Amino acid sequence: MVNIIRTENYQELSKHAADIIQATIENKPDCVLGLATGGTPIGTYQQLIDRFREGKIDFSKVTTFNLDEYYGLSSDHEQSYHFFMFEQLFRHINVPPERVHIPFGLPEDIETHCQYYEQVIQDAGGIDLQILGIGENGHIGFNEPGPSLQTGTHLVPLSQETIRANSRYFASIQEVPKKAITMGIRTIFQARRIVLLASGANKAAMIRRLLDDNITTEVPATLLKLHPDLTILVDQEAGSEI
Ligand code: GLP
Repeated sequence: MVNIIRTENYQELSKHAADIIQATIENKPDCVLGLATGGTPIGTYQQLIDRFREGKIDFSKVTTFNLDEYYGLSSDHEQSYHFFMFEQLFRHINVPPERVHIPFGLPEDIETHCQYYEQVIQDAGGIDLQILGIGENGHIGFNEPGPSLQTGTHLVPLSQETIRANSRYFASIQEVPKKAITMGIRTIFQARRIVLLASGANKAAMIRRLLDDNITTEVPATLLKLHPDLTILVDQEAGSEI
């Protein structure tokens, strides 16, 4: 069942998402969180940092897995998702670095690395709560629209739309990596709960399509409707077409 939560604005959306994460950790201090990058979760991460500083959340037993990483960028590259996650969240809270997992952008052997990533998620007991953003083209993680989707963690060519959308974080569009490593649809679906965050008018059409369209790999987010525990958090603008 899809549970839709409408919030007034980005601030409220971020607070609500942080409430869900905080409750998950309170119920299960050693929970496994699946985390996302992009602009959308930044407010949520700021909320988590504030609550940690106020002594309200303890991340010391939490394990995290990130959805994706650009292929070809080292972990200390400023545009890598590794760098992003440490800047936006991890270095401000008490999650032990050895419990943080992000696909590595420069693996020696891509197949081995993807299999390893799947295995570590299994070994950790699976993901309790997966936070997702949504691409304007309906991608989740970096599972791009296409005639088929891969199931497990894999290397994926980025679509022109995604390269263009993500170029806002790079000095020029030429610098945006052409490939990424992403959890697959099966990996994401194995999470016991999924919470998708969408903020802003540029996400409104895709949120409508997620809910109204038939399930199709051409709009990967439509597949989420098959998940037994999906919550969609929207602000007024992202929810304006539903
Ligand atoms: C990126 C990430 C996705 C994210 C999406 C939306 O491409 N791989 O995980 O959900 O962009 O990003 P934003 O929140 O900045 O709109």
